[in-house]
Amino acid sequence: MRIDIITVLPELFGGFLTESILGRAQQKGLVEIHVHNLRDYTKDKHRRVDDYPFGGGSGMIMQIQPIADCIAALQQQLKEERGEVYDEIIFTTPDGEQFTQPMANELSSLKNIIILCGHYKGIDQRVRDKLITREVSIGDFVLSGGELVAAMMTDAIVRVIPGAIGDSQAALDDCFQDGILAPPIYTRPASYPGFGDVPEILLCGDPKKIREWELQQAMERTRLLRPDLLK
Ligand code: ADE
Repeated sequence: MRIDIITVLPELFGGFLTESILGRAQQKGLVEIHVHNLRDYTKDKHRRVDDYPFGGGSGMIMQIQPIADCIAALQQQLKEERGEVYDEIIFTTPDGEQFTQPMANELSSLKNIIILCGHYKGIDQRVRDKLITREVSIGDFVLSGGELVAAMMTDAIVRVIPGAIGDSQAALDDCFQDGILAPPIYTRPASYPGFGDVPEILLCGDPKKIREWELQQAMERTRLLRPDLLK
């Protein structure tokens, strides 16, 4: 898989993309992640990528030219080098479709995606109409830019690519993978002064019984904490 992130703040992605599961997935060749500085594509001599809104009002709007040229350059490069096209061109915006685990799973099965990080007040509507294939929000709150959103999406997408996590079952056991929360988890020691004991069933050695208990605990936890998921 290939993920191209377009941003005005490429420095923000530094360590995040090279560490842990994301770093290892790239080393293993499961995913290529490229971060592009939108300012490298502007024709403005002051490297500006935004301008005032028509009709007045507060905030600056990202202009068409740098975004259109950047996306066109990436599309051309992908076509020339690999004979491929982008499956999705995603824009991060609070008024987009809610990002969920099923969406992360779905996006992880694609070959090439672009994530355009929104900034300032947003982008010119004509870019959304003409170039963007999917608009994604990570929740009903407003961040200063889409960089954290792109980072979160990339993490959630890459961890479910087969092979990204050592134990292939681990990603499938994550919260939300079955539409419910994960069960409580424990590690050694089985008994810790002042913290009590691990539930005895986990020490019984019968995987079937343990899975049943975990499912029942997961359902209980979901009923208690996120009843909306069971509707
Ligand atoms: N940009 C700013 N806030 C955002 C959000 N909640 N989701 C996606 N993109 C955003």
